[in-house]
Amino acid sequence: RVASVQTCDPSTDSDVKGEYANYKWDELGFGLIPTDYMYVMNCSKEENSFSKGSLVRFGNMEMNPSSGILNYGQGVLEGLKAYRKEDEKIMLFRPELNAMRMKVGAERMCMPPPTTQQFLDAIKQTVHANKRWVPPQGKGSMYIRPLLLGSGPRLGVGPTSEYTFITYASPVGNYHEGTLNLVVEENIYRATPGGTGCIKAIINYASIYKAITEAKTKGFSDVLFLDAKTGKNLEEASTSNIFIVKGNVISTPATDGTILPGITRKSAIEVASVLGYKVEERAVPVEELFDADEVFLTGTAMVINHVDSVTYQGQRAEYKKGADTVGHNIYEMLTGIQFGRVEDKLGWTVEL
Ligand code: COI
Repeated sequence: RVASVQTCDPSTDSDVKGEYANYKWDELGFGLIPTDYMYVMNCSKEENSFSKGSLVRFGNMEMNPSSGILNYGQGVLEGLKAYRKEDEKIMLFRPELNAMRMKVGAERMCMPPPTTQQFLDAIKQTVHANKRWVPPQGKGSMYIRPLLLGSGPRLGVGPTSEYTFITYASPVGNYHEGTLNLVVEENIYRATPGGTGCIKAIINYASIYKAITEAKTKGFSDVLFLDAKTGKNLEEASTSNIFIVKGNVISTPATDGTILPGITRKSAIEVASVLGYKVEERAVPVEELFDADEVFLTGTAMVINHVDSVTYQGQRAEYKKGADTVGHNIYEMLTGIQFGRVEDKLGWTVEL
């Protein structure tokens, strides 16, 4: 059980006053800026479900050295954002989809999940308690990171007896700055059939650091992974789904077990259909990179990012960017809905 956290009440906390935190909002990137509170909720095997959680000051936690997460990586993460509209209202974007995805991940990792209601309540309390850290419109958004961790002790391999759900938040700007040049990775795979690529398992990320680090050493911005079974089809970039555009047709790898079912991926597909594009979810052979007009990446952290180039076996393909592109049209509509500049006819946003 995570100890040493003390419940507190933001409404009577004199340290966290003010409409906005004192921060240079123009300097936001994608790094942790500690905010005032986090939300913590525990569950033991006897209880087998989460009960009441609470807000505590953001800070370090105590954990048993033999906890499930520290020893064997029993944990899943989520990521979602809060957006400030022009009228200062704060909105969440499809948070129930994160709750559902966490449930699927929890089941795969043999953990009890919070209910959808508990998940949504935790998100709302976290954002509300930290609302002075939601950037002014045009400067960024607040990234919310829910974690479900095996926090009980267990030396042998197997599910632990206690679980902790934590939600913390940080204001963020752009995930990628500058041009986005990808390199196709042919030796390291992010996911295997039957593995954990289709859930947000914590173990999925550190296992690709080597590929990312080597790509960056060679001057690339990120890695593009191939499917582990054939090595012939596109999979994902390190933290995002990939889309390729040819004419009026947008193609993206189908979520057939190794692809992370991104909420921005799903939303981009739905927006693309509303805008009249044809969307194909299928196996996308790596060779199609050399015939594409545009390539873009989607993810909660990065939103929609146009790719400048992809290099595969020493050959470099370059792509269209800018205002007159399919990716840009989807980006404008999606971010328009998120920030309240476009009417939310699809009912995707939730007011805090
Ligand atoms: C996200 O886009 O929210 C992600 O989970 C990617 C990464 C920051 C882990």
